Amino acid sequence: MSRRNLILSATAFGICGLDGYTAPRFALAAASQPGSGPTVRGDRFGVGVYNTQQVADELRYIEANVRPSNETRRKRILITGSTAGLGQLAAAHLLRRGHHIVAHARNEQRAAEARRDLDAVVIGNLLDLDETRSLAGQINALGTFDVIIHNSGEYGLPDAEILNANSLSPYLLTSLVDTPREAMIYLTSSLHLGGDLKLHEVRSGGTNVNYNDSKLHMATLATAVARRRPDLRVNAVAPGWVATVMGFHNGPYAPDNLRAGYMTQVQLSEGTGPAGQMTGKFLFHQKEETSVNSSGYDEKAQDALIAAFEKRTGASLG
Ligand SMILES: NC(=O)c1ccc[n+]([C@@H]2O[C@H](COP(=O)([O-])OP(=O)(O)OC[C@H]3O[C@@H](n4cnc5c(N)ncnc54)[C@H](OP(=O)(O)O)[C@@H]3O)[C@@H](O)[C@H]2O)c1
Repeated sequence: MSRRNLILSATAFGICGLDGYTAPRFALAAASQPGSGPTVRGDRFGVGVYNTQQVADELRYIEANVRPSNETRRKRILITGSTAGLGQLAAAHLLRRGHHIVAHARNEQRAAEARRDLDAVVIGNLLDLDETRSLAGQINALGTFDVIIHNSGEYGLPDAEILNANSLSPYLLTSLVDTPREAMIYLTSSLHLGGDLKLHEVRSGGTNVNYNDSKLHMATLATAVARRRPDLRVNAVAPGWVATVMGFHNGPYAPDNLRAGYMTQVQLSEGTGPAGQMTGKFLFHQKEETSVNSSGYDEKAQDALIAAFEKRTGASLG
């Protein structure tokens, strides 16, 4: 079933009903003029198209309640996969706090939809490694960031696509994009516990890497980068099972708190709160997670994964 069909089936379950909210600053489902680019779909928050009702409600909460920060200086923050779900929520929160946010969209269609709220959008489909390389060039052309959140993730696709989107592309972006000044954050999952690094598969050009494996890659990449860059704060974050389109992949149920699912990323970006100064950790809801696959904190495993990524992509971490 396609991603779009999945969320439409969630709508049919009565979970993602069409959203009647009218935003004062933005036109709803504004059709583009001929020749002016893609037609943006759905309501302002894309309920029933690329977001759940729960994400839309949280975006409205952020708009009504989050105020500019006096605690931290204004930072430049790039968030991959920030056109929906947790990435969009972190972007919206950090934007309201007064930071400069650059969003990332998979294509022109999604960029047009993201521009309803964010001005700066870089474009690239992380399923395609050439597009990822081109995306790295777009990001570098914007200058050095303070924080990069590697948030984008696919679920429920064939293994070869998962490998590109969830493992090789975040590695390539880590390697090719100018290192941020303060922090890097990698979105992982508690499902990494059932994963395997599949080093032979990565090295040899194989594609047998599933979602759990890819999330173990993210956790291990984070700790490997943290070791190499002690001057930065680099962490892996599991957001919990929350009510985004991905969280509803297998039906409209997700037990964890949606706000807690993006606030760790917000605190790590600002360097505030219980998690704000940590590095080299696996975090869940602003605390260190104790249930972590042994590869995550195994330096030999970290180095072997980086070597496998280097061999596979030809890109070095330096
Ligand atoms: N939701 C959960 O329960 C859960 C649990 C554990 C971990 N996570 C992790 O949390 C992160 C965010 O997930 P989410 O729940 O917010 O998912 P989501 O609602 O599906 O949003 C994913 C975001 O990533 C973008 N994206 C996905 N594949 C892409 C690609 N190939 N190229 C460019 N952009 C792409 C999506 O763009 P489009 O809108 O164009 O698809 C969207 O903006 C992921 O890394 C996921 O693995 C989520």
